[in-house]
Amino acid sequence: MSRSVLVTGGNRGIGLAIALAFAEAGDKVAITSRSGELPEELAKHQAIAVRCDINDAAQVDAAFTEIEAANGPVEVLVANAGITKDTLLLRMTEEDFTSVLDTNLTGTFRVVKRASAKMMRARKGRVVLISSVVGLLGSPGQANYAASKSGLIGFARSLARELGPRNITVNVVSPGFVDTDMTAVLSEERRKEIVSGVPLGRYAAPAEVASAVRFLSSDEAAYITGAVIPVDGGLGMGH
Ligand SMILES: NC(=O)c1ccc[n+]([C@@H]2O[C@H](COP(=O)([O-])OP(=O)(O)OC[C@H]3O[C@@H](n4cnc5c(N)ncnc54)[C@H](OP(=O)(O)O)[C@@H]3O)[C@@H](O)[C@H]2O)c1
Repeated sequence: MSRSVLVTGGNRGIGLAIALAFAEAGDKVAITSRSGELPEELAKHQAIAVRCDINDAAQVDAAFTEIEAANGPVEVLVANAGITKDTLLLRMTEEDFTSVLDTNLTGTFRVVKRASAKMMRARKGRVVLISSVVGLLGSPGQANYAASKSGLIGFARSLARELGPRNITVNVVSPGFVDTDMTAVLSEERRKEIVSGVPLGRYAAPAEVASAVRFLSSDEAAYITGAVIPVDGGLGMGH
């Protein structure tokens, strides 16, 4: 099986682990990011990197055109790119709010929309969105981020209904706290506080999120759509 796979934000952190998991399984992998860098470990697998800011619909369209020319139409899309701009509500500027919504939610809409036309024509496709435990649990100082991540769930479930008849599955993976650049900015005190609430007592490794994404994109998961799969060490259970 060698499918055309696109992972947005695939140059580091969770996205890189996801891209590597697909590449190691023999898929044709493309990654996008604003920097357009291709990490060495992915280059070894003939993966390609395309510069693309998901806040710009023209860049998204151009990136897809380039990826389609190299690898064929995208058959598996992992919408992973995302940002945080944490601050308490009274300090949160309109730009703090809208920029996070624009990247995490509207940016995901842009890439899913661009991928879906060709998937619909092919009558098959896999879409996996990377949300967060915070989308359902909430988190002080992350109202913008949580709103964007819970928005992804309603977005995915609507598309699961809309695109299901075309044999396209749309699922959400909801990580807890994962060791990446995004969480490296948290203080040691905050990290300890978070870990104390995680039944498994630790952060996740990016590869542990990648496993769930690979499963949802596999033949074994053909009858799973509209699901929200937690990879959070139990942090969000019950939500
Ligand atoms: N780390 C965690 O604990 C955690 C937990 C739950 C969910 N998540 C989610 O998992 C995803 C990956 O997180 P991470 O921890 O791996 O974060 P990260 O290390 O900060 O990486 C974020 C990725 O998104 C890309 N990106 C950001 N803004 C972009 C834009 N406008 N256009 C294109 N690419 C953009 C970045 O590439 P460039 O900067 O080069 O553009 C980078 O590849 C995010 O959606 C995040 O919300 C993370």
